[in-house]
Formats: sequence, C-alpha cells, structure tokens
Amino acid sequence: MKKRILSGMRPTGRLHLGHLVGALDNWIKLQDEYECFFMVADWHALMSEYENTANLSEFIFDNVVDWLAAGIDPDKSTLFIQSEVPQHLDLYMIFSCITPLGLLERCPTYKEQMRQIKTRNLNTYGFLGYPVLQAADILIYKANKVPVGEDQLPHLELARQIARRFNMLYKKDIFPYPDALLTQVPRLLGLDGRKMSKSYNNTIDLGDSGETIRHKISSMFTDPKRIKLTDNGHPDTCNVFSYYSTFIPKIKDEVSDWCANAKLGCTECKKRLACGLIDKLKPFHARREDFAQDKEKIKKILEQGREKAITAASRVLKETREALNL
Ligand code: TRP
Repeated sequence: MKKRILSGMRPTGRLHLGHLVGALDNWIKLQDEYECFFMVADWHALMSEYENTANLSEFIFDNVVDWLAAGIDPDKSTLFIQSEVPQHLDLYMIFSCITPLGLLERCPTYKEQMRQIKTRNLNTYGFLGYPVLQAADILIYKANKVPVGEDQLPHLELARQIARRFNMLYKKDIFPYPDALLTQVPRLLGLDGRKMSKSYNNTIDLGDSGETIRHKISSMFTDPKRIKLTDNGHPDTCNVFSYYSTFIPKIKDEVSDWCANAKLGCTECKKRLACGLIDKLKPFHARREDFAQDKEKIKKILEQGREKAITAASRVLKETREALNL
C-alpha cells in the first residue's frame, strides 16, 4: 500500500516561477511513490481574502491549468477543489469542538500575521480557525505526509495535536500523526532580490508571455558591485546568475566565466537569460495554452477528482462519526 499525501495551495492569485520550483516540481515527483491528493484550498483563500473575492473563480481555474501544464497527472493523482468536498467541513466542525483556543492563539503563524498584515482585517473567527481546517484537510484522508514549505510547520504540529487529542478523547486510533515532507527546493528570489511574492510585485508568472518575460528580466537587479562593463562581476551573489543555475544549469559555468571575467555585460547576460528561460518554458507554455482552451476537459478532471476525494473522505468521516456516537 502506498502512503498517502495531501497538499494544497490557496488560489489567491496567479502562480509564478516560485510556485513551480518551490512546490509543483516537487509534487510532480511524488506522484509515483505516493497516493496523492492535491487540492485548491479555496476555503483557506476565503479565510484571509474574504474582503475581495472578485477574481476567486478565475484564480481557481488558472491555478488548476498551471498544475496540469506543469505535470500534475489526473490519472495518477486526485486533483480537486476543497469547497466541493463537504466532508472537510464536517471534520472541521468536529475538530473545532475539541481544539483549545490557546493552541490557536499561540500559533506562531497566526501571531505573526496578526502583527504584520495591516491592510486587511484578519481579526475574525474564521482566520483563527485556519489551522483547524487545515488539520481537517489532511486528516479527512488520513494522509501521512504533507509536502509543504517551512512556513507551514506550525500548522502541521497543530494537526498532530488535534489528531492526538481526538484519538485520546474517544479512545480510538483513527487519525495518523502527519509529518511535513520538506524537500530541498532551490531558493528563487523575485526580480528585485526579495522573496518572490505577488505582494512585492516582483514575480514572473507561469502564464506570462515571452514578451513579458523579456521585459521583466531586463528590469532585474544585477551585481551592484559591477558598475562598468570592464569590472569583474560576482556571479555567486548575482540574482540573475541564480536564475541561470536554477533554469539553465547546463551553461552555468560558461555564464559564470562571462560575468567573473567581464566578458559580457549585464544587459546582454539578461537578454540571453530571457531567451533561455522562454525556451525552457516552451513545452509548459504549449500545454498551458491547450488546457486553458479546453474548459470542458478541466471541468471533467475536477469532477472526477471530486468524486474520488468524496469517496475517500466519506469513509473517514463515517468512522469519525461512529467514534463520536453521532
Ligand atoms: N495553508 C497552506 C498554505 O498557505 C495551504 C493549505 C490548506 C494546505 N490546506 C492544506 C497545505 C493542507 C497542506 C495541507 O500554503
């Protein structure tokens, strides 16, 4: 029996290269070894972005197109939309009853976001319960492994605490204690050298056209110590070089030589990077076009995913309700 994986992404915008190298490439590799459930976490998007839902359905569709184009294979993995599988909410309700408030109030991600995010009002009942729903997402499938970034570790710890509390209270061994699956992912910074993030407006989106990519790359920051063309550059601290390493590693040494020995200017170096990246993304972009145009196909994939997810989730919910004498 294969071990089970569940992971999800919040559809709060278009996906960018950071999502591709940070999550999707990894999900794709896991598809053969594990039984995978990948969901669009639209309830979680609502919990933090409830004030602006104008583009929610567009983002959901667009993200699914990116997943498929990147190589999430609906014949191998179950791909679904969280809000279409109502069993998540049943378990969320049950977990809400047994989760001590203190656990949620002390959660580091919660405290940090309450402190940092001033542009939205997150002082809501739903936002406090965000990790409870995430625990339900994972445990409704009895998933053992959860591929996520480090920022999600506190939520995984909460999921284990909730599982333990349930098993103890009702003297049943229903829920596993899921672990994060942290894998080495290349660190990809945004165009300006900060973390790649929509809110910094420094992303290259997966749906960007060649022209947009060229334009965006031409605006990238390069080695600040290299002022004149004849100055030697420092590839190891140059963000443009790190893009070469991630996307076109084959020519990495050559590029390093261009830069360190002042054989090529930064403008030309960026032009070549844009060409190389566009070339590298070509098969992805072609698949993306095909999927984006075939709305019926996407609908069908999501319907099948929903059916499979409901079948798996219903089984665990039944067991859970029985443990509660419901
Ligand atoms: N909170 C996750 C994030 O922001 C998204 C998510 C929701 C998730 N439910 C999940 C991730 C369950 C893993 C498992 O990235």
